[in-house]
Amino acid sequence: MNAKIINGSKIAKKIQKKIKKEVDQRRKKKLLTPGLAVILVGNNYSSKIYVKKKKIACNNVGFFSKVFKFSKKIHEKKILNLLEKLNKNKYIHGILIQLPLPKKINTYKILKKISYKKDVDGFHPFNIGLLCQKHPNLRSCTPFGIIQLLKKIKIKIKGLNALIIGDSNIVGKPMMLELLLKNCTTTIANKFTKNLYKHIKNADLIIIAIGKPNFLNGKWIKKGAIIIDVGINRLKNGKIVGDVDFYSNYKKASYITPVPGGVGPMTVTSLLQNTLYACKKYYD
Ligand code: GUN
Repeated sequence: MNAKIINGSKIAKKIQKKIKKEVDQRRKKKLLTPGLAVILVGNNYSSKIYVKKKKIACNNVGFFSKVFKFSKKIHEKKILNLLEKLNKNKYIHGILIQLPLPKKINTYKILKKISYKKDVDGFHPFNIGLLCQKHPNLRSCTPFGIIQLLKKIKIKIKGLNALIIGDSNIVGKPMMLELLLKNCTTTIANKFTKNLYKHIKNADLIIIAIGKPNFLNGKWIKKGAIIIDVGINRLKNGKIVGDVDFYSNYKKASYITPVPGGVGPMTVTSLLQNTLYACKKYYD
């Protein structure tokens, strides 16, 4: 049995088309145009690509957007000052700091400074806390995008044994909260997990975000499992691959996301949805 491939690009395009339509209608009614500020610190190659994609997506749906670029030597205080201004700026309804930040900068302090009303990454303790209490508000983009992918292909995930491999603040932990919201039995594995293969074998749904090219081999998974690949890794030959060994999993899974064209486009789409949501909920 070959898996069905979940076409994230196609689903993302459909949602973005709807967002554009709504923004056009808002403009006709003289309502606010959603605005996003993106802050990029340093020279990280992947971060620069992600920020560019976010800027293009904003343009495509008719949002106002502005990118603030800083050298990795910037002092934390300067970012905090900028955030203070952006929090008050009436043209900006969403603020995103591209992660990771340089090590000398206190990421927690920076993320906490963003107004929870403009926290379109869903990383502020207020928004994470709401998700934890099963009252989702602004939701972290990659996990929210994955939930929407699963919804679109009409997979009932209630009661499934879900395994998240990777416990990052960006993907793993908010993903765990999203899956608990959907009533999955949720396990989260990190680099210290003993007997990872036992967990993999037991999982009906696997979400992997560890940044290790082709790590998950299809021979370890349960037949018919759903495989969601968050990894985006560039090999020495320039090829982009996920954390999942695609072919061996494709042969055994029921559904699988490709890389590229799976989760990535949905992360950007969730960001657009969050920005529109924040604009409507807090500033209309
Ligand atoms: N770096 C990798 N993924 C993300 C994300 O979803 N948001 C931010 N801010 N940084 C990231």
